[in-house]
Parts: sequence; C-alpha cells; structure tokens
Amino acid sequence: MGETTYEYKGLVKNIAPAKGKLGILLPGMGAVSSTLIAGVYLIAAGHGKPIGSVTQMSRIRLGKRNQARYPLIKEFVSLAGLDDLVFGGWDIYEENCYQAALDCGVIPKHELELVKDKLEAIKPWPAVFDPAFVKNISGPNQKKTANKMEAAELLMRDMENFKKDNQLDRLVMCWCGSTEVYQDKMNHEAFQTVENLEKALKENLEIIPPSMVYAYAAIRMGVPYANGSPNLSGEIPALVELAAKTGTPIAGKDFKTGQTLMKTVIAPGLKARMLGLRGWFSSNILGNRDGEVLDDPDSFRSKEVTKGSVLESILQDDLYPDLYGNYYHKIRIEYYPPRGDEKEGWDNIDISGWLGQPMQLKVNFLCRDSILAAPVVLDLVLFLDLAKRAGLSGIQEWLSFYFKSPICRPDLKPENDLFIQDQKMRNTLRIIMGEEVIDHSGLDYYEGS
Ligand SMILES: NC(=O)c1ccc[n+]([C@@H]2O[C@H](COP(=O)([O-])OP(=O)(O)OC[C@H]3O[C@@H](n4cnc5c(N)ncnc54)[C@H](O)[C@@H]3O)[C@@H](O)[C@H]2O)c1
Repeated sequence: MGETTYEYKGLVKNIAPAKGKLGILLPGMGAVSSTLIAGVYLIAAGHGKPIGSVTQMSRIRLGKRNQARYPLIKEFVSLAGLDDLVFGGWDIYEENCYQAALDCGVIPKHELELVKDKLEAIKPWPAVFDPAFVKNISGPNQKKTANKMEAAELLMRDMENFKKDNQLDRLVMCWCGSTEVYQDKMNHEAFQTVENLEKALKENLEIIPPSMVYAYAAIRMGVPYANGSPNLSGEIPALVELAAKTGTPIAGKDFKTGQTLMKTVIAPGLKARMLGLRGWFSSNILGNRDGEVLDDPDSFRSKEVTKGSVLESILQDDLYPDLYGNYYHKIRIEYYPPRGDEKEGWDNIDISGWLGQPMQLKVNFLCRDSILAAPVVLDLVLFLDLAKRAGLSGIQEWLSFYFKSPICRPDLKPENDLFIQDQKMRNTLRIIMGEEVIDHSGLDYYEGS
C-alpha cells in the first residue's frame, strides 16, 4: 500500500518543543485538583506510578505491525515533563492544597505528608463565584467586582502574575470547579458572537455562569481551556469564534471517568455484535462535595444531560430501530456522605438476542472518583499544550476520549464510542508527527500473497 501524506491546514510543521515551565490553572481546587497535584508531586518524587494516564504510560504503534515500533507517547510527542508543571488555581474556600487534599480524603495522610510543603504553598486565589449557579456550597474567598467583564479582567491579571512570578513559559486552564445548574441557553443571542458576549459581560447578564467567565479570560489570553464539568462554558459560538481569533485550543465537557466510561466500553460491544437494548438503569451513590452539589436538582440536571447523551450517539437508533429504537435509559445519583469519594455505581442492562430473547447484564463498579479523574486532567493539560504548540486551535475533537459529552462542530454528532475516540486520538498524534495513519484493516500484509 502506498504511503499517504496527510496535510491539515494550520498544522505547524516543526512543533515547538515543550521547553521551560508549564503553568496549570485550575478553577476549583477540591478533590480532583488536589488529587492531581499531590499525585504529580508524589510521582515526580518516585512515590507512585501515573496509572490511568495515557500520556505517561501508554505506547503508540507506528508503522507496520511487524516493525515493532511502539514508543511511549510521551517520547513520541514533545510533552511537558511532570517536573516542569507549576500549579495555581481559584476556590471559594481558603484552604491550601494540603488541607483540601486531607479534607477530601482520597490520598492517605502519610503519603500526603511526603509532599506537604509543596502542597501547603498552593493557596487558592479568590474565585469568581455566583451562588445562583452552585447552590449547596458557599465560601469566603471570592472576588468583589462590579460586573462579569471586570471579573474576567481580574482573572487575567491573576494569570499574568502567576506566569511572571513563577517564570512560566506557557499556561493551560482546566475547569475543575463544581457542576453549575443546568440552563439550556446555547442559542441565546449573547452567546453567538464575541461582540455580544463582551457586551453581556459588561452588562452583567445573569445567565453567564462563572465557568464561562473563566473560559473567556483564558481564551482571550490564548490559554488552552478544557471544561471538566457539564456546565455550558467554552463551547458557545462566541468562545469558539474567540478561540479561532486567539489561536486557542479548547476541549470539553465533563470528564469521562466511572460509570460513563464503562457505558462507552460496553455499549459499542453490544452494538458491534448487533445485540439489542431494552433498558439501561444506572444508579450511583457518592458522598464527596461533588455529590453534595449534585444533590441540588438543577446541578444534577446538568450531569443527567451529559451522562444521558452517550448511548444515543453510540447506538444510532435512527439506523437500527429494531435494536435500539425503544430502550429506556435512566440515571440516578444519590448523595450518601459515608462513602466520601468512594463512589459506587450499579448498572442493570436489559439486552436482547436471537429472536428477541431477553438477557441481563449487571455491573457493580466500586470506583474512586478522583483517582480516575486526576490522570484525565493531567493528560488533557499536556495534550492541550501540545495542540497549542502544534498550531491547532478551536475545538479539539481528538480529545473526546476524555469527556462524557464531547464538544464538536454543531452540525456533527459527538463521538462517544471509547474505541473510536482512542483511534481518533492516536491517529491525530500520528498526523501531528507526520507518521502514517493506521487503518487497522491489515490488508497490506496479504497483498500479492
Ligand atoms: N471526579 C470525577 O470522577 C469527575 C468526573 C466528571 C466530572 N467531574 C467534575 O469535576 C468537578 C470537580 O470535581 P471534584 O470532585 O473535585 O469536586 P469538589 O466539590 O471536591 O471541588 C470543586 C471545587 O470547586 C469550587 N468551586 C465551585 N465554584 C467555583 C468557582 N466559580 N470558582 C472557583 N472554585 C469554585 C468548590 O468550592 C470546590 O472546592 C465537578 O464539577 C465534577 O462534577 C468529576
């Protein structure tokens, strides 16, 4: 088979190497952020392995199967090293990162103590917060501003100071703040153009959530932005337009970690073998602060929407009405404090086989929410920094792999199948590095035989 060259507009031929320090900006310094930061420090000091991180542990196949070229991804593409990451962020609580990590109880105290000094040095900056969007928590560490544009400008000043004080070369932002209340306002005129959005920020339009103010600040400064929650944030047309203007990669939304990760593993398998689906009931208990916020029905609604959308795009009920035209999908999340971050999910899946005969599948996942999320955030910030150096801007669909509800061009359906997402990501890395895209047909091994 002949060599194919893939040329993509905007792709830089010689990607700038990941030299110097990379600043990681985290709005929301709770369980996920503190588990990420403590984990990176522990791993960099040789106290643990970065399990769950594709950038750190996975290898990528290059060329033909019989050539045995399987470099580590972090050696194949130039990524910032763990020692070169510097963390900063905002929260409504004043606790430093050591206290936040202790409070959420994910990493044991004796391990946290190994990196206590470094964690204590990270104190959250005052947050841009609005209790109308996150109802079940409140804290004193907030900026006081006349309007949302002023709030965005203060965030930009925080970023500039952070960069200067730490002599950073580049910045990346990942929203790890609470889930905001659901609002179906994607089509609101304020969100359609940069001009409208900037006017609305100055006029303090009430439907602009804090996460969108952070996204605006980052994108305006050309800082790559990922959204780890279901909030309406970086994906509005105004911010996609701004991202194109400022050459900023953006990605989202809602980290794909526990139950939804498993859903996007199992559903493609059922569909590949043409097994039908009659119903999928998913329930969860969790007791961390995230669970407390989700106890508010309006925040839960945001989660329900992102969690609920994955089956539809995988199963394509429009193409397979006999198999998937009439399934019942229900999701419950219950706040149950005794479990803390140790979430438990149950899935009952009613499927059908030959002649429509019913069968059942049960999944009981005893997972650790932040243990699954921390490597996702690490990969996202490193890949977004790579995207920026590679000249990619706007929506980074190749990072769908990490999200429950991948943002994409409005006329496209998102890709939720984990295996397609994996290929999408790997082939993008091959394209970035000028390597051949792998189609997995294997036909070329048998040509002429
Ligand atoms: N852990 C997972 O597996 C997972 C998966 C998908 C999505 N998420 C999302 O990631 C986010 C973080 O999860 P977590 O478990 O760390 O939650 P958490 O409650 O422990 O931390 C979130 C922090 O954000 C802060 N916050 C809220 N609004 C803020 C604002 N406007 N500015 C600055 N800080 C703000 C809160 O005070 C809190 O400390 C949540 O939205 C959660 O839904 C987590």
